[in-house]
Amino acid sequence: MTWMLTGGAGYIGAHIVRAFQEIDLPVVVLDDLSAGVRGNVPADVPFVQASVQDRDAVRAAMREHGVTGLLHLAAKKAVGESVERPLLYWDENVGGMVDLLQAAADEGVERVLFSSSAAVYGNPPVELVTEETPTGPLSPYGGTKLVGEQVLRDLAAADPSLRWSALRYFNVAGAGAPALGDRSIANLVPMTFRALSESRNPQLFGDDYDTRDGSCVRDYIHVVDLAAAHAAAAKRLDEGPLGEVYNVGRGEGVTVTEVLSTVRTVTGINFEVDVVPRRAGDPTAYYADPSKIADHLGWTARLDLEAMVRSAWEGWQTQH
Ligand code: WQD
Repeated sequence: MTWMLTGGAGYIGAHIVRAFQEIDLPVVVLDDLSAGVRGNVPADVPFVQASVQDRDAVRAAMREHGVTGLLHLAAKKAVGESVERPLLYWDENVGGMVDLLQAAADEGVERVLFSSSAAVYGNPPVELVTEETPTGPLSPYGGTKLVGEQVLRDLAAADPSLRWSALRYFNVAGAGAPALGDRSIANLVPMTFRALSESRNPQLFGDDYDTRDGSCVRDYIHVVDLAAAHAAAAKRLDEGPLGEVYNVGRGEGVTVTEVLSTVRTVTGINFEVDVVPRRAGDPTAYYADPSKIADHLGWTARLDLEAMVRSAWEGWQTQH
């Protein structure tokens, strides 16, 4: 039972590879290294450099490594870029997924775990989000994730032997080891670190929201906990519930100001913050109700915000 992890050379993928190794689930990584880093893949893990859209390469890798499960992470994930270049996102995230699933069908691979996103919720009508909360993605990125779930639903309806589940990631931060820190500077914590490294004040995108301190509320989850959620989902895919989507968060809303305060504590830098206008498209407040994944898969997050920020800072200092 070997799992193919597409995007396994990326920040999140690298942590999932290690979580699978810890429970002796054999893996092979397929990654085109457009964003991933070859050095993220452990030396004892087979690696195939290819795009998910190269069906021949994917099929050959599936045959060569006896792949029976597919964990699809490889995708473009910059929300802002998706708004500017929607076709790139629909082609790579959805077209790529269709190509990959066609190769999987050709090779008889009938277990699929899909990396989805809390971005499918857009600006939800409630702060505490369950999997039944109405979806309404605000960006093409979020749209591609919602459609990816639908593709799997449709596939399973046509082929009842397909076993799948999808994990809707909330805000991921932290590092399992300094070398595995997030290299993309696209989210709050690395963007704050970059400002500090360049002797600039970190920016707060709006402090006039209707929240406890005026800044946006999100659900931050340690990448190590997120990786463990994938291992739990993979273990249960053979006999557990199938065709389910799961929120993967800590179930605690944290404001941007609270994250910045934790950065001060961890870094020892008592920085000022530049309050700038709100960023278009930012939901005011939402965080996960993670009870479904706890009930179905026995997973709960264990690491707190300070552990995320501390490990992310160690990673940042190692890489910069
Ligand atoms: C968080 C908060 C900003 C930077 C992310 C991913 C998305 C999905 C969900 C995976 C917002 C504020 C940020 C800064 C700030 N994850 N902020 N100053 O937008 O919640 O979405 O998690 O699929 O793909 O993008 O994350 O880190 O960009 O912003 O004030 O310098 O921090 O306004 O309220 P977001 P983010």
